[in-house]
Amino acid sequence: MSSSSAVRIEPLSRPLAGSVRVPGDKSISHRAVLFSAMAEGTSTLSGVLDSEDVRSSMKVVEALGAKVALDKQPDGSLAGEVRGWGSEGPRQPEGPLDCGNSGTTARLLMGVLAPWGIEAEITGDESLTRRPMRRITAPLMKMGVRFSPDGKETLPVTERGTSALRPITYDSPMASAQLKTAVLLAGVYADGTTTVNEPAPSRNHTELMLPEFGVKTTAGERTASVVGPARLEACDVHVPGDPSSAAFLACAAVLKPGSDVTIENVSLNTARIGFVRTLERMGADVSIARTGVAGKEPFGTISVRFTPRLRGCEVPADKIASIVDEIPVLALVAAHAQGITVFREVGELRVKETDRLRAVIDGLEALGVDAWEDGNDLHIEGQPDLVAPAGLVFDSGGDHRLAMTWALVGLVGREPVDVKDFECVAISYPGFLDDMERLAS
Ligand code: S3P
Repeated sequence: MSSSSAVRIEPLSRPLAGSVRVPGDKSISHRAVLFSAMAEGTSTLSGVLDSEDVRSSMKVVEALGAKVALDKQPDGSLAGEVRGWGSEGPRQPEGPLDCGNSGTTARLLMGVLAPWGIEAEITGDESLTRRPMRRITAPLMKMGVRFSPDGKETLPVTERGTSALRPITYDSPMASAQLKTAVLLAGVYADGTTTVNEPAPSRNHTELMLPEFGVKTTAGERTASVVGPARLEACDVHVPGDPSSAAFLACAAVLKPGSDVTIENVSLNTARIGFVRTLERMGADVSIARTGVAGKEPFGTISVRFTPRLRGCEVPADKIASIVDEIPVLALVAAHAQGITVFREVGELRVKETDRLRAVIDGLEALGVDAWEDGNDLHIEGQPDLVAPAGLVFDSGGDHRLAMTWALVGLVGREPVDVKDFECVAISYPGFLDDMERLAS
């Protein structure tokens, strides 16, 4: 993702109004595809997100021998069947497993491959090959998995699993659902109980979905365990809408005068809607209503209205995992609030698709807003009357969440902005601009 072409984002001509369904949740879609590939039998999936990241997971499991027959539906989602490799195991791939831009694919895949004696090289794009992988390889090595070259921190790495996996209790140094999932997936095949303890709760989609595939899983607020050896059995999974995508619509509605929007069919998993809580604490007019449950995942509507007087707030360290992907867009909202907003302990942002901490501070400074880091805390001094200067050009650096955050500056402001590498929104939300324009038409 390094084209320098910029897309001009024009201000929306009207307030955002009406209702919208966001595309399927990215985290749940990855898990639905990967777990189905591991399972015995044929799983039926619906509501799956059609985006570049999820396509990376589909491509990788196909290279390993799963049969993926997911087709585009009239609503843009993917639905169909995945036949897993089950007890036969994955086949030796012919070439490197390319995870593209998807950290979730790469890290979960390490757990998926752990019980099998094949040798697979895992790689990705320029951004992914810079991201830290030791957090996953370290616990998996304790379980008996081998990675080469020895001590390598980043992709590409070659993994060789083992049928003699050792169960572990792992006190994770960070709240990371990717890490937790990789260890639990390996634990399914180890002889005994594998436990991951976390310093703060991370998203729990794995703990909610594994029992649907017949794997006994126990979970508390900061701990999750599986008992092995077990095996995954095919099942039906419906994927609700993605709160991380909904967050862009919600934040746009909060900032654009006159807006009144209802986002339907969106996951209301508490580990994912921290952004709603943060917006509430800023005084935003936002509410949620649960309408159903898909498997064990609750979903419903998020209603948001324009809010003229926002106030800064402090988000404590133990809530960061519940907003980790939404911090850039929440930082933009904080830039419009009265007073200082502080996001505590957000060092993880430095190792996302880009260094999002640096990018957010630089972007807000371009807007004329004071933002700074103090240790690992992000501080933003909001301006309730903020008006973005004309002629702004933002570089997303190929980071989808930054592309959408900076696009919002143009969409809800008075002047157009240019966003470089805007096409990367296809990683998680290909219809982002269409949905915004439809709500404002
Ligand atoms: C994800 C977990 C989070 C999140 C990422 C998706 C997942 O990462 O940022 O976009 O699906 O498990 P960490 O596990 O690194 O916190």
